[in-house]
Amino acid sequence: MPRIYFKTADQYVEFAEGEEVNVLRMAIREDIDVPWQCASGNCGTDRLVVEEGAENLDPPRRRERARLGELLDAGYRLACQTYTRGDAAFSWDPDQVGLDDEDGRGSESRTGWAGTG
Ligand code: FES
Repeated sequence: MPRIYFKTADQYVEFAEGEEVNVLRMAIREDIDVPWQCASGNCGTDRLVVEEGAENLDPPRRRERARLGELLDAGYRLACQTYTRGDAAFSWDPDQVGLDDEDGRGSESRTGWAGTG
């Protein structure tokens, strides 16, 4: 069974063979403390370093490329925009904030996104 290793939290999440799963959704479902705000590729709060399994990830789409810019080349992905079909491992800075959000918290709502699916 493939699994995502959330290295900073030292937690694994398994999913069914043949599934393609969203990385942020899996983290939220398992109560793993990946920082996030918008879940739509805008804030950049959920940027993760891909430690392993880059070959199992969907290629970044336009929105993610635009948001991350050079960070993409440095090995970052946005959890909310990243899907994986196999093993992958990620790390992050637990204190990181949005890319446009110097003092911490933005005003976007986190409700209503992570419940199902
Ligand atoms: S949570 Fe805002 S870009 Fe992913």
